[in-house]
Amino acid sequence: MKVLVTGANGQLGNSLRAIIERPAAEGIYFSQGFAKNQIPSAIANPARKDCHSERSEESVNSFEWVFTDVAELDITDRSAVRAMVQSQGIDVIVNCAGYTNVEGAEDHSDLAEKLNAEAVENLAVAMKEVDGLLVHISTDYVFGGKPLHAPISEEEEPAPQGVYAVTKLHGEEAVRRVGCRHIIIRTAWLYSEYGKNFVKTMLRLTSEKPSLKVVDDQRGTPTYAGDLASVILLLLSRMEGPAAEGIYFSQGFAKNQIPSAIATPTRSDNGVTYHFTDEGECTWYEFAREIALMAGHTDCDIQPCTSDEFPSKVHRPAYSVLDKSRIKQALSIDIPHWKSSLRRCLDAISK
Ligand SMILES: NC(=O)c1ccc[n+]([C@@H]2O[C@H](COP(=O)([O-])OP(=O)(O)OC[C@H]3O[C@@H](n4cnc5c(N)ncnc54)[C@H](OP(=O)(O)O)[C@@H]3O)[C@@H](O)[C@H]2O)c1
Repeated sequence: MKVLVTGANGQLGNSLRAIIERPAAEGIYFSQGFAKNQIPSAIANPARKDCHSERSEESVNSFEWVFTDVAELDITDRSAVRAMVQSQGIDVIVNCAGYTNVEGAEDHSDLAEKLNAEAVENLAVAMKEVDGLLVHISTDYVFGGKPLHAPISEEEEPAPQGVYAVTKLHGEEAVRRVGCRHIIIRTAWLYSEYGKNFVKTMLRLTSEKPSLKVVDDQRGTPTYAGDLASVILLLLSRMEGPAAEGIYFSQGFAKNQIPSAIATPTRSDNGVTYHFTDEGECTWYEFAREIALMAGHTDCDIQPCTSDEFPSKVHRPAYSVLDKSRIKQALSIDIPHWKSSLRRCLDAISK
C-alpha cells in the first residue's frame, strides 16, 4: 500500500514521519494501549521513505511512504495532485496540510478556504478516481458556535464560528460530497516537539517572565501530535491484512477495504468520522501550569484570566471536549491522558 502524506513538514506530518522512521523494535509508542512489540510490520518496516520512491519487490507486504509538503506537492493545484496520485500509484492520502492560523484566517479568508476546503476537494477527487482512501484531519472548532457542556459526539451538528472553523467544515463537507472512501478525524489543541505551538510558547515564556496570565475560561483537551499520528497508523494497519496478521491484530482485512468495525458511517456512505484527542480535559491556564511544573519553571507566577483580557478577532469555544468512544471501540484502544503525553513531548523537546 502506497501512502502519500501532504503537509509533511507540519506538526502532524513530522510526527508521522518520526514514528515511521523509528527503528522497528521501538514500535508505535502509545503509552497505555499498546506494548512495544505490538506494531504491525507493514508500518515498522517501510520500504522507502523518500518523496519520489518507486514501487519495488521488497515493498509487496509493506507500506511505502511518500512525504510531501508544499514544495513537492501544492495541494491547491488539482492537476498536480492528480498527476502525483496517478504516476506514483497512491492508494491512501493522509492530509496533514492545512491553514492552521486561527487568527490569521480572519484576515486571509480566501487562502484559508483554498487550503482547508478547495484543496481538500482536490485530494478527495484524486482518491475517488483511483478508489483510494483519504484520511483527513478536522477540528473541534467546528462546534465552536454552540454552548456545549458534555463531551461532543460525532453525531452533534456542527456550528462553526470564525473563518478557520467554517473553512475546516467546508473541507469535511467536500470530502463527503465527493464521496471517496474516507476517514475524517476531528482533533483539538495539537502540540508537539515540531514547529510552533502552545507548549513551546509556554516553555519560553515561563522561563523568561516573572509572571504570566493565561485564559481559564476555555476548556478542551491538549493532544500530542505523536498520539494522533499513532492512531492514524493503527487505522491504516487495519487495512493491510497479511502484513498485520499474527503480530497484533487478530483480524485480517482485505487490502483496500475499510473494515466494518472502522467504517461505521456518519452522514455519508463511504466513510467514517472519528473524534480523537488525548484523555482528560483542562483549561489553557491549567495546561500552562502543568507545562511549567513539569519543566521545573516554578519561578514564573501563572495567573488565570478570562478570554476578554486577550482581545481576539475570533470567538473560541468555552467547551470543546470531544467524545472519543467511537474510535476507542473501533480500535480497542486506551488513549493516554494528556498529562502523560505532555511528559513524553517535553522529553522529546529536551533531547
Ligand atoms: N494545530 C492545532 O491545534 C489543530 C487543532 C485541531 C485540528 N488541527 C488540524 O490538524 C491538521 C494538522 O495540523 P498541524 O498543527 O500539524 O498543522 P501545521 O503544523 O500548520 O502544518 C501544516 C503544513 O501544511 C503545509 N502547507 C501549507 N500550504 C500547503 C499547500 N498548499 N500544500 C501542501 N502543504 C501545505 C504547511 O506549510 P507552511 O508551514 O510552509 O505553511 C505546513 O507544513 C490540520 O488539518 C489542522 O487544521 C490542528
